[in-house]
Amino acid sequence: MDRGWALELLHANLKADNLRKHCYATEAVMRRLAREKGEDEELWGLTGLLHDLDLEICGDDMSVHADLGARMLEEAGAPAEMVEAVRMHNAEGLGLGERNAAFHHALAAAETVTGLIVAAALVRPEKDLAGVKVSSLRKRMKEKAFARGARREVIMECEAAGFELDEFLALALEAMQGISSELGL
Ligand SMILES: [Fe+2]
Repeated sequence: MDRGWALELLHANLKADNLRKHCYATEAVMRRLAREKGEDEELWGLTGLLHDLDLEICGDDMSVHADLGARMLEEAGAPAEMVEAVRMHNAEGLGLGERNAAFHHALAAAETVTGLIVAAALVRPEKDLAGVKVSSLRKRMKEKAFARGARREVIMECEAAGFELDEFLALALEAMQGISSELGL
């Protein structure tokens, strides 16, 4: 398992540019979180990169999303921890109950906060990440109508992963700013 392998697998299965960017953003956030906590950066990062591997195959069917991706990863020889985390990021849709591991909470919160941060960049006149501030993200968190798809209760799972909200927002923003050219923001 290395990044080249993961990218090849991702690109073979996800063609849409916006979905690929969502995956790159999730990877960057997961790497940053892992580094902060002394976790396995490669495992966390590549799990972030691959978590939505099946999205174009599943379409809108959330009752199979992530389970199919987990099977695809299993077949490709991914480690069991990655397979499980991918499955658990859609625990609700798959009827798997509550997430209960820091890694799983981190993935759910990370992939969700990317949507909030992208939306916060896009409402700026410059449409860039450079000018987004943690304070504005915190305000946006409270605006229910803003980036509605970025479910706030899932972002709040950062706490179960061991991060205060402000710290989590700062780390996620920093991580995404670090790959702004890849994200085109
Ligand atoms: Fe995702």
